Amino acid sequence: MRLREQVAVVTGAGRGIGRAIARALAAAGARVALLDVNEAEARDAAGEIQKAGGDALALRADVTVRAQVEAAVAEVLARWGTVHILVNNAGWDRPMPFIETTEEFWDRILAINLKSQIICTRAVLDPMIKQGYGKIVNIASDAGRVGSTGEAVYSAAKGGVIAFTKTLARELARHRINVNCVSPGPAETPLFEEEFAKGKPGLAESLKKAIPWGRLARPEDIARAVVFLASDEAEYITGQTLSVSGGLTMV
Ligand SMILES: NC(=O)c1ccc[n+]([C@@H]2O[C@H](COP(=O)([O-])OP(=O)(O)OC[C@H]3O[C@@H](n4cnc5c(N)ncnc54)[C@H](O)[C@@H]3O)[C@@H](O)[C@H]2O)c1
Repeated sequence: MRLREQVAVVTGAGRGIGRAIARALAAAGARVALLDVNEAEARDAAGEIQKAGGDALALRADVTVRAQVEAAVAEVLARWGTVHILVNNAGWDRPMPFIETTEEFWDRILAINLKSQIICTRAVLDPMIKQGYGKIVNIASDAGRVGSTGEAVYSAAKGGVIAFTKTLARELARHRINVNCVSPGPAETPLFEEEFAKGKPGLAESLKKAIPWGRLARPEDIARAVVFLASDEAEYITGQTLSVSGGLTMV
């Protein structure tokens, strides 16, 4: 298995794309820490991995709170000694016209989608630098590459994720730490159902018409790209953004 003996941390791993990423990393042989603000979902996802014969640890952490992230990473280090892979996946949005958004909403969106990735990255860097090895995969969004009506601040946050990724990739290459983004297009997840499709029965169908591949992304589509970038098969790839969007965006 290509990730045997690797220790991976996945944020927002309780459901949706993060859960599929945790499952796929474990299936590739990694030991996986599942961080989520929803502890029950994280435990359920970890239990699913364990049932399939994998090694998983569920940890409650709000990724916008540095002390909680540091405490969770300390638990990972106590259990497995180091971290090889970080997947910054936790994120959230509620689409609405920018003109209707409040400052409180801007702060929340920037904290969950951008500052969280900065916090989590900093929390795992010391062991990665010490061992001279690391794979960081940041989940962006094609909203951050091409914009998305109703998602102005989210797009700004995800654009920030992409820029953060590029600079970190430059700074950390000497430590043999790869930093890349996976950028999903519209994906069938609880977030999509709750915040995008609810009350808009035609949305998924019209997206399917616009997507050359003819369907929305499944969480597993995103997870496969993450496993590749987290593996040594991607050793010479850093600072890149890989869209997984069925061809909806070609940047
Ligand atoms: N679904 C899509 O269409 C889509 C498209 C592009 C990008 N993305 C991105 O993919 C990632 C995953 O999205 P999803 O659709 O699977 O979402 P989701 O809401 O279905 O799952 C997100 C998970 O993150 C957790 N989470 C949220 N805030 C958290 C916090 N502060 N601390 C810890 N955990 C937290 C939630 O509890 C949940 O388990 C996000 O970064 C999102 O922006 C999603």
